[in-house]
Amino acid sequence: MKLELQNQTAVVVGGATGLGAAIAKGFANEGGRVAIIDLHPDTESLANNLTEGSPPYSQTLGILADATNFEAVKQARDAVVAQFGKCDHLIYAAGTGSGHYGFPFWNVPPDVWPRVLAVNLTGAVHAAQAFVPHLIQSQGTLCFLSSVAGQMGSQTDPPYSAAKAGLINFAQCAAKDLAPHGVRVNTICPGMIPTTLNQSVYEAWASQQPEDSRMTYEIWGEEKIQRVVPLRRWQTPEDIAAMALFLASPRAANITGQTLNVDGGFVMHW
Ligand SMILES: NC(=O)c1ccc[n+]([C@@H]2O[C@H](COP(=O)([O-])OP(=O)(O)OC[C@H]3O[C@@H](n4cnc5c(N)ncnc54)[C@H](O)[C@@H]3O)[C@@H](O)[C@H]2O)c1
Repeated sequence: MKLELQNQTAVVVGGATGLGAAIAKGFANEGGRVAIIDLHPDTESLANNLTEGSPPYSQTLGILADATNFEAVKQARDAVVAQFGKCDHLIYAAGTGSGHYGFPFWNVPPDVWPRVLAVNLTGAVHAAQAFVPHLIQSQGTLCFLSSVAGQMGSQTDPPYSAAKAGLINFAQCAAKDLAPHGVRVNTICPGMIPTTLNQSVYEAWASQQPEDSRMTYEIWGEEKIQRVVPLRRWQTPEDIAAMALFLASPRAANITGQTLNVDGGFVMHW
């Protein structure tokens, strides 16, 4: 399938590592120009590495910024536009868990909630606000990474779950607002991928278990997958990148306002 993403400009917030990095790499491999905005200290060098194996005309840019700071996001936007002249696709992949095992919810101190909501939800609003004029100009696309946890009250990490539910809801508002401008907005809900974030969920759980009943990360993940994932396997960063690239491409021209689960069947709706 031809995705027709050559010479398109994609901005991936949270693109330094994990799923965002796979998405950024995917755009670079398609011959696109890719900017990553991330608070990872190695953002610039990680961005440079993305062009390895990509067509010679693909270009990358790494900008160090915290998505929870609107001024910093606007400055990052200005740097992208100064370098590439436009933004066709914005992907918000930044995310964080609370670092607490939230079962029951009163195990998570209320003062932990604001940062989790800021990174997973408000940061996405900052990015959307900052880039919306450019997306309108390009008739581009916007994609948020939420989670299966945003579609159920996940007891593992209540502030994360609530933030991800809010993100799905905001994406639907944005999709309705932007449809008359020709901009499509969708949300991807990954299932379980072994990244830093996923491992932090395990660590929060493990820290609450008596030492003799603690499992390794691998066994914990495998047990959960066998229990809740009908396809009985982990998802990969490339699975998520494939969906993000498809949604950005003209192949998805009639898809907007949707929540797409890439989760091995973990969550099923009518
Ligand atoms: N890994 C999974 O199993 C899984 C499952 C469901 C949803 N998700 C979602 O997918 C997205 C990517 O997660 P991941 O697993 O790749 O995690 P990750 O921790 O590997 O990557 C997250 C990236 O976001 C960046 N980031 C964090 N806070 C930021 C901020 N304030 N400003 C800018 N950048 C920031 C980090 O530096 C990192 O590069 C997240 O939104 C996460 O909630 C992941």
